[in-house]
Amino acid sequence: MTLDNWLTLIHPALAVIFVFPLIGIVVNFAWATRQRRLQIKSENKKSKIAPTVGKDHVQLGKWLSASVVGIVLVALAHAIISKNIIKNELFTNQPLQAIFIILMFGLTIASLVFLYKAREKKWRGIFATLTGVGLVILGSQEGVFRRTAEWYISHYYSGMLAALLMIFSLAIIDEIYKDKSLFWRKVHIVLNSIALLLFIGQGMTGVRDIFEIGLYTPPPGFIFFGL
Ligand code: HEM
Ligand code: HEM
Repeated sequence: MTLDNWLTLIHPALAVIFVFPLIGIVVNFAWATRQRRLQIKSENKKSKIAPTVGKDHVQLGKWLSASVVGIVLVALAHAIISKNIIKNELFTNQPLQAIFIILMFGLTIASLVFLYKAREKKWRGIFATLTGVGLVILGSQEGVFRRTAEWYISHYYSGMLAALLMIFSLAIIDEIYKDKSLFWRKVHIVLNSIALLLFIGQGMTGVRDIFEIGLYTPPPGFIFFGL
């Protein structure tokens, strides 16, 4: 195992140790939230499910959104640093591109932080869009393995989509609560059920990708911090 191999493992390890358990808890509270709402709406108007489940779902949902975007940024950072910035000696050959990439990481993280702080609908829309655009721009950089020819089994495309769905969930929290017609609630359920399927897919395609990267032999002369 080279140092680069170990660094590749940071993203999968964070996904396994932190993100997947969180997905389990968030989905468990999501189910309880729905059951409670339907039971209260039914004829006997009572439910034994704690009234706090909705709040717990949202609180942990916020953690989930941040951690999914976080691990995507970790994966992109490693891929771009190792297979672009260092390999192509970007700071020497294309310094503007290297500075642009670093600025994009900063702006994407800042937009996510502002999205958590924004209350007004307009600002939530703006910061959600900026965070999403930042992720897509970073994902389009050289060094990121996208598997575009086989996009339907690509860890990259489904991971990006899942992250964008998490950002969208953050942006519409207030709409879910305000909207009496349940429109946004239904949109949320449909989109995040898709997100759940994508997360399950990430578990499979991610493990496959470790296997493939493990078999990858770096080109001669490619040295990562001398290791
Ligand atoms: C895999 C991820 C998720 C799934 C499957 C999911 C699913 C659900 C479901 C089934 C409900 C109950 C809807 C109903 O009342 O019928 C719900 C409610 C809600 N979800 Fe999610 N959700 C997920 C993640 C998130 C995230 C990341 C956020 C925000 C950061 C979020 C915010 C909300 C809000 C605000 C509600 C309303 C809660 C209430 O009524 O008190 N969800 N979600
Ligand atoms: C929440 C779930 C996950 C999401 C949203 C996600 C998303 C991503 C994204 C967007 C990339 C960048 C594309 C690339 O370089 O290939 C990536 C890379 C990668 N992912 Fe995941 N992933 C998730 C879970 C996992 C899991 C569970 C594993 C393995 C156990 C895994 C293994 C990898 C590997 C090995 C890479 C390549 C990293 C590199 O080149 O440095 N991922 N992931």
